Amino acid sequence: MNPALRKEYLRALGITPWVLRAGKTSETAAAALPRVEESQARAVGASVVPSAPPRAPQAPPLEENLSWEQLRSRVAACTRCALSKTRTQTVFGVGDPNADWLVVGEAPGAEEDRRGEPFVGRAGQLLDSMLRAIGLARGQVYIANVLKCRPPGNRDPAPAECTECLPYLERQIALLKPKIMLAVGRIAAQNLLKTDSPLSKLRQQEYRFGAARVPLVVTYHPAYLLRTPTDKRKAWEDLKFAREVCARVDR
Ligand code: URA
Repeated sequence: MNPALRKEYLRALGITPWVLRAGKTSETAAAALPRVEESQARAVGASVVPSAPPRAPQAPPLEENLSWEQLRSRVAACTRCALSKTRTQTVFGVGDPNADWLVVGEAPGAEEDRRGEPFVGRAGQLLDSMLRAIGLARGQVYIANVLKCRPPGNRDPAPAECTECLPYLERQIALLKPKIMLAVGRIAAQNLLKTDSPLSKLRQQEYRFGAARVPLVVTYHPAYLLRTPTDKRKAWEDLKFAREVCARVDR
């Protein structure tokens, strides 16, 4: 990416671009970033990524091999949990169905519920800047949430709601076959990795998701970063780490 443009995006992210000290190359500067050894990452991935979550007995399993359009209409008609009674509409996901990157958030907020598209509020604008900082336009990635419906009052998703909704995301992943998944925020990370570890312990590591063992990296939620801008630098490290992980994947 053009260095001036990158500087502009980093400024939008609230990050002052690093200036290399005399005698340092960009490689040595990059080497100074915290990095997890590949073998360690593999071990963590193997032990953290769970087998499929148990399904609540009341909802029938999702039919197999649904196409994008079939899946979209199943989601639109979904009544698997009580969020169907309070939503304005479902928020399926948006982006390039051939994207290398899948960004997974928590659940639609008020604006997303109104517009039917994920990450369109203030947090979405910051997410767009974060992606642009690593050279990705919003339309080049696919963006979806763990939950397709808004929890009323923006409360945290209930575990049973995530269990009911996860098969939709799993089918999206199977159709998309992304090179990398970027889980933004604690709720997305904990639900995808089936862990209750805090986000600070989950970031900067490479996990593998599901049967296809899709590489997965965790970073902060943009809404959290709006409240805690001092952590934007750590998010920037996570994005660069995710970009490195993605570059190692050949598909
Ligand atoms: N926060 C999320 O996690 N997802 C959205 O779509 C919007 C805000």
